[in-house]
Amino acid sequence: MTQPQTWSQRFESALHPAIALFNASINFDIELIEYDLTGSQAHAKMLAHTGIISAEEGEQLVSGLEQIRQEYRQGQFQPGVDAEDVHFAVERRLTEIVGDVGKKLHTARSRNDQVGTDTRLYLRDQIQQIRNYLREFQRILLDIAEQNVETLIPGYTHLQRAQPLSLAHHLLAYFEMAQRDWERLGDVSRRVNISPLGCGALAGTTFPIDRHYTAQLLNFDSVYANSLDGVSDRDFAIEFLCAASLIMVHLSRLSEEIILWASEEFRFITLKDSCATGSSIMPQKKNPDVPELVRGKTGRVFGHLQAMLVIMKGLPLAYNKDLQEDKEGLFDSVNTVKACLEAMTILLREGLEFRSQRLGEAVAEDFSNATDVADYLAARGVPFREAYNLVGKVVKTSIATGKLLKDLTLDEWQQIHPAFAADIYEAIAPRTVVSARNSYGGTGFAQVNKALVTARNQIKSEV
Ligand code: ARG
Repeated sequence: MTQPQTWSQRFESALHPAIALFNASINFDIELIEYDLTGSQAHAKMLAHTGIISAEEGEQLVSGLEQIRQEYRQGQFQPGVDAEDVHFAVERRLTEIVGDVGKKLHTARSRNDQVGTDTRLYLRDQIQQIRNYLREFQRILLDIAEQNVETLIPGYTHLQRAQPLSLAHHLLAYFEMAQRDWERLGDVSRRVNISPLGCGALAGTTFPIDRHYTAQLLNFDSVYANSLDGVSDRDFAIEFLCAASLIMVHLSRLSEEIILWASEEFRFITLKDSCATGSSIMPQKKNPDVPELVRGKTGRVFGHLQAMLVIMKGLPLAYNKDLQEDKEGLFDSVNTVKACLEAMTILLREGLEFRSQRLGEAVAEDFSNATDVADYLAARGVPFREAYNLVGKVVKTSIATGKLLKDLTLDEWQQIHPAFAADIYEAIAPRTVVSARNSYGGTGFAQVNKALVTARNQIKSEV
């Protein structure tokens, strides 16, 4: 196919085919087509509204663009590399449909402000979708938490048994992370939702355009105050990639825990067949592929954030073609975050089961109630540090004799310190230990029940 003359008569020969391919973005920016059409319709309406073109011309452009939308949705509009990018592809098709008036669409506009508009409209939409996925993820965490307030699970620091927890409390920690993610995206969205349309190539335009009019039609909150900034700013994309990276950090940490929990060493959960895979050689295996993939995909999103920062750091004002490189990483991050949130939600909903009996045994088989013995003495007037040292000794001798704290006789307790009484056994039972941590935000059942109510209310919020 011969290269159509997309730019001015200044050029005498067509692009080298390999360079045309190198330069083109159509293979990936086709993703923006619906936003490009919507943005162009707003621009056409503005041109008519301000009298730059006639009302009739405006209508022709708007309906021609609508026809392209239908053609695209029906799979009839599939522009190739010769179109260079989605913006040229649309403009060219528009001119085929409506004739010469199509050539008026690009009055008072540049692809620079156009692509910025498209990317923002895309991201605004995607952010809303990701927030909905986050809500689903939070909902399933809450559902499981509500059923497991009194299910106990060992709590760790340094991956060493530390203090037992309510399983609900553990899951609510992830709920909180997701809540911050949800709020953070809302915050990013405010800076995504600013219109660069009308900034032109870099300096504005000689035509009497109305930027606020297009901004309003496209539901932008405001317009860029400076045309150079408007066409060259990608802070909003970087901010989004930061927020996306944090979502992935959270999903990856949960994945890591699920992988550990499913191992023979922990045996805290069983993976169900619907979300696990086998090995091609070891018939006994059931592998946690879903959380492993989520953990692995996290690296891609971090990489895209890094790439975007590097793309931007040396750019002189205003638009540079480097900016075309903003898209693939952004699209891939959006798709990755959505896919991971969905997979993790399904995994939690139907892919795993907590083994509550095993969890109950786990919290009773260690020294994670040692702090409670020290607290017991401290509550009876023994200075905490002294109590701590005493209990340290008890743990040492118990380990040597193969006993747990609950196995000590009352006599033995009283030899350690006379303040010990028969209620020590109840005081160090796992249930009591968890229930007693009733400080604000702690794992005590009363606190957890309150946190569950707050969490339920939080996910009702739409903003
Ligand atoms: N495909 C281009 C991009 O994604 C559109 C903007 C081109 N602007 C230009 N001055 N060449 O950035």
